[in-house]
Amino acid sequence: MYIEKQLKKRRLPDLFTFEDGRKVTAENADERRAEFREILQREIYGEMPVLPDFVRGEVIKEPADRDCAGKAKISRIQLTFSVKGEEFSFPFWLVMPRLVRMPRFVVAINFRDNMPDEYIPCEELIDRGIGFAAFCYKDVTSDDNDMTNGLAGVLAKVGYNDTGKLAMWAYSASRVLDWVLENCDIDRQNIAVAGHSRLGKTALVCGAFDERFTCAYSNDSGCSGAAITRDKQGEQVAFISVRFDYWFCKKYHDYSDRHHDMPFDQHFLLAAIAPRNLYVASALEDTWADPESEYLCCVAAGEYWKLYGKTGFVYNGERMANVTEVFHEGCIAYHMRSGVHYWSREDWNKFLDYFLK
Ligand code: GCU
Repeated sequence: MYIEKQLKKRRLPDLFTFEDGRKVTAENADERRAEFREILQREIYGEMPVLPDFVRGEVIKEPADRDCAGKAKISRIQLTFSVKGEEFSFPFWLVMPRLVRMPRFVVAINFRDNMPDEYIPCEELIDRGIGFAAFCYKDVTSDDNDMTNGLAGVLAKVGYNDTGKLAMWAYSASRVLDWVLENCDIDRQNIAVAGHSRLGKTALVCGAFDERFTCAYSNDSGCSGAAITRDKQGEQVAFISVRFDYWFCKKYHDYSDRHHDMPFDQHFLLAAIAPRNLYVASALEDTWADPESEYLCCVAAGEYWKLYGKTGFVYNGERMANVTEVFHEGCIAYHMRSGVHYWSREDWNKFLDYFLK
């Protein structure tokens, strides 16, 4: 079939063979996923910090009666945690529907600190009974190669000198969840982490490393996110590992002009999320991210869910996705909408259709 042929041309490393040559089976599928996480830390994202010594939060803004037309409670929490004895603190928004007792929950990693925000349609989420937390990634650490500020500075002090910033933002989303699980009544069987673009890459890393998230949602994440790297269109390792070197560990840079030598590809990241749910969204005109490579990555990773007796990705093997369809049948869901690189309401609504199923 057409899709399988396209995938074969990418010559991907095998998900089903351990680095020491052993074959992966249903019995050792979790062990291999632990290996995916090791490989991802060693080769691309850098070392994920240890769990914090403690996490606490202080309410710095109480909800108001008219929040979201009176349908929600919006509070702002200042979160503090400590890693190896060093403290760090950043704020996040907590938005809870007033009438839902145990809401499904999303941790959204955002570009800005607004609530609502053009990327976070607060009322749509609330109207569908979802509770959520959102934070601005730059409140964790700056989006540049300054490794002295925010969490980057704290981690450097305690000996993490090669953790990329995507991993730091992902780690912070997990700390928000630590607090939420301690302090809010939410439906623990349905917790997603979500992000767009560089923060879509971040959401995937978070989902791969933190199993409390039952779903990871990446929007237009592209290169080093949900797209296959080998022979992808648009952005390539040669560009991203130079322009955004601080997102990654140093080793990633070595693959800049030889990505065919990488002992992994991005389907390792997606497969690390198995057997939980994964949502990948693309946009037709987002050629920099490359929708085709995102779709093919879902096809490649989907095989891994079979080890758990689950259906991975249900897709059309004869062609790429078009903008009128959604693929919501399996544990991996996908849609491609019309338009450009953006986190649109259509993306959220389609994701929520799946998340609320
Ligand atoms: C740049 C970068 C992408 C990234 C995007 C974004 O275009 O090259 O990898 O996804 O910014 O975060 O908007």
